[in-house]
Amino acid sequence: MIVAAGRPELAQARDALAGSVAVVMTMGALHDGHAELIRTAVRSADSVLVTIFVNPLQFGAGEDLDRYPRTLEADLALCAREGATVVFTPAPDVVYPDGPPVVRVTAGPLGEVLEGASRPGHFDGVLTVVLKLLQLTRPHVALFGQKDAQQLAGIRRMVRDLDLQVDVVGVPTVREPDGLALSSRNRFLSPEQRTSALVLGRALHRRDVEAGRALVTAEPGVELDYLARVDSTTFADHPDGDLLVVAARVGTTRLIDNMVLTDTATTHDRER
Ligand code: PAJ
Repeated sequence: MIVAAGRPELAQARDALAGSVAVVMTMGALHDGHAELIRTAVRSADSVLVTIFVNPLQFGAGEDLDRYPRTLEADLALCAREGATVVFTPAPDVVYPDGPPVVRVTAGPLGEVLEGASRPGHFDGVLTVVLKLLQLTRPHVALFGQKDAQQLAGIRRMVRDLDLQVDVVGVPTVREPDGLALSSRNRFLSPEQRTSALVLGRALHRRDVEAGRALVTAEPGVELDYLARVDSTTFADHPDGDLLVVAARVGTTRLIDNMVLTDTATTHDRER
């Protein structure tokens, strides 16, 4: 496995790859959700390139950029174990050599609702770095988690609207045995908060906006941000939408989750 921190090292490693290339983009603090993306990538391409970069552009003022966990040694061990071919670990000035970019991608309406409303500019920052990392890594396939469903929808839309030559693959959410979606931020939860956080999954399983909201609101120590039924491509509110999304603050830690709604069973059920 080659670890590249600079652009020349990445370019050299990328040029040496023959056959199909899959990319898995991450912000590090890797867990089994990321590992599942890498495993799926290993099955879908000849080589797998993982990027580890905590992107300042997608964090708002007062968000957790400074306390975002950084565990590079363990991350590299996980990448090696799961069969990554190349890992790109750039510093911010490698990705943004001229400082914050002047020209950026805008996420449009999708960037302004739900996660976008709570985190102004977040999806512009995500799409801008994803586009840059696609340019730098030139993959045939890029894999993203369904856990961040609004991000996945924004990336799919960018690929269509800007004619990017890459196949986007969505990977189902990896969960703890008790249903909690794996997240790099879970490590900030105390044992009590972790138990409280399970209310998100219970709320989604009500499959009803009002009932779900009531459940989260009644949970001590949990502050509901939103629970909504949306169309999974536009993220517009829709009574017959195919996706339930939820976000809440547990203590100072913000968690999100979602569940695909189908007629008979839910993706969440099938994943179990
Ligand atoms: P990060 O939060 O590190 O997530 C990296 C990828 O792992 C994303 O595609 C995310 O959806 C996926 N992921 C996280 N938790 C998961 C879980 N429990 N099950 C399945 N997949 C999971 O998302 C980002 O980083 C950044 O916004 C990034 C796309 C790298 C741009 O900076």
